[in-house]
Amino acid sequence: MIRIDSVTKRYPDGTVAVDRLSLEIPDRSITVLVGPSGCGKTTTLRMINRMVEPSEGTILLDGKDILQQPVNTLRRSMGYVIQNAGLFQHRTIVDNIATVPRMLGWGKDKARARARELMERVGLDAGLAKRYPYQLSGGQQQRVGVARALAADPPVLLMDEPFSAVDPVVRKGLQDELLRLQEELGKTIVFVTHDIDEAVKIGTMVAVMRTGGKLAQFAPPAELLSSPADAFVEDFLGADRGIRRLSFFSSTGLDLLTAPIVAIDATAEQIAARSAADTPYLLVTDLDGRPLGWSEPRDLTAGAVEAAELLPYGRPFVAGKDSLRAALDCAVLSPTGWAVAVDGEGRAAGVVSQQAIGEAIRGAHAEGRTNGGSSAASTVTKAARIAP
Ligand SMILES: Nc1ncnc2c1ncn2[C@@H]1O[C@H](COP(=O)(O)OP(=O)(O)O)[C@@H](O)[C@H]1O
Ligand SMILES: [Mg+2]
Repeated sequence: MIRIDSVTKRYPDGTVAVDRLSLEIPDRSITVLVGPSGCGKTTTLRMINRMVEPSEGTILLDGKDILQQPVNTLRRSMGYVIQNAGLFQHRTIVDNIATVPRMLGWGKDKARARARELMERVGLDAGLAKRYPYQLSGGQQQRVGVARALAADPPVLLMDEPFSAVDPVVRKGLQDELLRLQEELGKTIVFVTHDIDEAVKIGTMVAVMRTGGKLAQFAPPAELLSSPADAFVEDFLGADRGIRRLSFFSSTGLDLLTAPIVAIDATAEQIAARSAADTPYLLVTDLDGRPLGWSEPRDLTAGAVEAAELLPYGRPFVAGKDSLRAALDCAVLSPTGWAVAVDGEGRAAGVVSQQAIGEAIRGAHAEGRTNGGSSAASTVTKAARIAP
């Protein structure tokens, strides 16, 4: 574990970049430092690997003061990834990634083999190995930066705005990839960003910093969204806080109705039997159980429903896997106000009304208030939230 204990950094010109910061960074999870530009995020990160020395306070790595450790040993235990990847332009991709192993005295073949293995790990095509950085897209270069930082398998990864320079679509891909990679590798990651959405998406713990290098709040994302410490944090989180928080709650508890579902070849008796006053629409499926669309029962022709006559069912959510936010989104976008839940194979698992989702949301909020929103039973894991 990395422990930052009352650390202050005063630059020679008198700028206080970090002011009595204390943080406990848990092992094997992603801790995000987020805040406006100039609030001391980079300075904090660089104090962890001693690129910047604190003016006051101590930083402990596994209980030992980092100032008592040889700086080379310390840096070897910490991969470092920066914006624009910071690759060596005159080296090929494979040799960029092999840099640290080579420095550690590995033979060329072994280092390159390791580099190729890492390329695969971070989703880079093997065909790119012999290219130079300028021949790669920004997103690909960023992946190379991550691979290079992982090359000597350090327990700690320091990442400073690693995805800030790429466009939103590529960025989302890189974030998803980092979460997937982290599931496999279980590194202790300290991740700096100025983007609160990125912080909430990837952080297990999020430290919100304010100008002057002060800590405003340190909490899991769901708790930040439910209980911002003050007006600064609330303002920084921005609009839709309540809706965004729903992405941390699983749709598992929703009461899915299967009665209002009929197959496209349903008989008049089946249609009649499945029509009830409190479910004004029936969901029609194909013969494999995949949703086709909605219809009022009286508009259905027994035995031969015209798929073209049906109301669209929108985008379904995957029952139990997707979040309450996804379920609510489906219901809001559905012309009937009912959301369609499917199983992993895309077959209709049930339908649920906006009203029922609203009740589940109230239940989730009540539960979140009593346990800080981190109950294993009701929350969605980082990996599950990769799906929108
Ligand atoms: N080498 C330096 N000398 C003087 N001031 C610096 C130096 N590096 C950063 N600063 C100042 O310290 C503050 C925090 O900077 P930084 O840690 O880079 O913030 P962030 O990464 O959050 O944008 C800023 O006011 C910045 O101008
Ligand atoms: Mg910075």
